[in-house]
Amino acid sequence: MSKVLDKEKLEQEIKSIYREVAESAEEEFHFETGRVLAERLGYNSDDLDKIPEAAINSYAGVGYYFDLADLKPGEKVLDLGSGSGMDSFVAMLHVTKSGTVTGLDMTEEQVQKASTIADDNDFHNVSFRQGYIEKLPFEDASFDVVMSNGVINLSAEKDRVFKEVSRVLKPGGRLVLSDIISEEQLPDSIKSDADLWASCIGGATQEDSYLSLIKKAGLELQEVRENPMYKFISESAENASQKYGIKSISLIARKK
Ligand SMILES: C[S@@+](CC[C@H](N)C(=O)[O-])C[C@H]1O[C@@H](n2cnc3c(N)ncnc32)[C@H](O)[C@@H]1O
Repeated sequence: MSKVLDKEKLEQEIKSIYREVAESAEEEFHFETGRVLAERLGYNSDDLDKIPEAAINSYAGVGYYFDLADLKPGEKVLDLGSGSGMDSFVAMLHVTKSGTVTGLDMTEEQVQKASTIADDNDFHNVSFRQGYIEKLPFEDASFDVVMSNGVINLSAEKDRVFKEVSRVLKPGGRLVLSDIISEEQLPDSIKSDADLWASCIGGATQEDSYLSLIKKAGLELQEVRENPMYKFISESAENASQKYGIKSISLIARKK
């Protein structure tokens, strides 16, 4: 992270944007939200039809990975940066009642929204808690699958995040994610813009460095692909994205 960008200020900026995504999803952000985005990225409309609209409206992911995840009934899944819960609820459909899904997010309003949706719909095997992806409040080897959508780019300590993912995965467990990376190193002028960082641009790590952090954490990459259907919408975000090759990828990696 740029020295100009203070860690606490950044956390407040990120929380303030995602509080608005939870509470006023119809507002304009640098990025798209909701069902039209989800369908364009590849979500199955039959899955979306089974999920409460309130969760879909606040969806702010950047790609699709459920085909890579290939979730099985009975599996235990952790969703890092679960937001208003759409991906956690999709995962719930796939792991069925014999599995469990746990969502973790640092923004209180996102956790509250997702928890209320789960309670109101009697989704008993999905739960949400507040916490940080850099310090996971879970025991070693507790999950079959860790998934995350549009979140890890927001962390200034991505090495810690991937180490934590590796710690909480069972041997042979999978990490599946969609995230924003860049083809080139970003200049300080972009990295020090808290608004662009909080909108999934300023924190984008150069692709090779991002993938090497995953490998260093003890995970073996199995597939990496681009999500060309993901686009930023504000002019400043789109300009930065074109200039530095900022783009969305989905990947699967397995714990050795
Ligand atoms: C772009 S949104 C994506 C939310 C969700 N995955 C989705 O697809 O709709 C990013 C989410 O990550 C959360 N987040 C960002 N940094 C985090 C951190 N260090 N620890 C926990 N949650 C974080 C934010 O609060 C926000 O809800």
